[in-house]
Amino acid sequence: MRYLSLEINNGIGLISIHRPEALNALNREIIDELDALLEQIRDDQSIRVLVLWSDKNFAAGSDIKSMVEMTVEEAADFIFTPTYNKLDLLDIPTIAGIEGYALGGALELAMACDIRFAAEGAKLGYPEINLGIMPGAGGTIRTPLSIGSPWAKELIFSGEIIDAARALQIGLVNRIYSDAELFAETMKFAEKLSRKAPLAMKLIKQTMREGLACADLMEGVDIEKKNWATLFSTEDQKEGMRAFIEKRKPEYKGK
Ligand code: CAA
Repeated sequence: MRYLSLEINNGIGLISIHRPEALNALNREIIDELDALLEQIRDDQSIRVLVLWSDKNFAAGSDIKSMVEMTVEEAADFIFTPTYNKLDLLDIPTIAGIEGYALGGALELAMACDIRFAAEGAKLGYPEINLGIMPGAGGTIRTPLSIGSPWAKELIFSGEIIDAARALQIGLVNRIYSDAELFAETMKFAEKLSRKAPLAMKLIKQTMREGLACADLMEGVDIEKKNWATLFSTEDQKEGMRAFIEKRKPEYKGK
């Protein structure tokens, strides 16, 4: 691959972008490579957690130079939504580790992950309005779903770039670490999640996705009730509870 790398170690997949000359700006080739890697990860049962992290900058948004002269049809083909949906729909937990800039389409990429950790020096925002466009890869939907509509509107309407402390305050990121510690702490957390029961993890993600999409709260909690009971058909549930009673660490098999 030209721009992306995937490393797999101890059940953790790590995807990084390597386009430093453009602050990792996302062009079509990067998204096509990401799409292929997500399909590989989806089909690889050995991967329990996915981390997206890139050195120095998460990414400074979509590649403005390749968008400037696009027609409506070309813009519709260019936009990253199908790939970001693939990321969102993975059964495993996904973590964005954000160093430097995460702007526009790159913040949308981070918002398609389950959890976001940021370095103290990170800068986040949706500058699309300053380019005469709007977020187009899920940002107007996933951001208010995550942080609430008023904070999302403030960010998207203003195009302001905020620092990590502000991002933590409004819930855009879960945790902040020093720039030097971010990567190690993100991987440490990924390692913790990689030891959890995979079937339970999958159903938690599915239940939250389906439940949050329900207009009716009671319909959402009914989905939760059904999926919760389903986990009692798994060996992992027996193992998890037996391990607790026997005062030992569980060994999950994903069955
Ligand atoms: N697209 C293409 N190239 C970009 C880029 C982008 N989004 N962001 C940075 N670059 C390039 C710059 O053009 C520059 O290249 P050259 O040396 O060839 O000119 C190089 O990366 C370094 O950038 P700067 O010199 O601008 O670096 P800086 O430190 O002065 O500024 C910055 C950093 C504030 C992030 C600034 O680069 C910037 O504002 N970038 C654009 C951010 C942006 O608007 N992103 C949203 C894009 S729209 C979008 O994402 C659409 C969507 O919803 C799908």
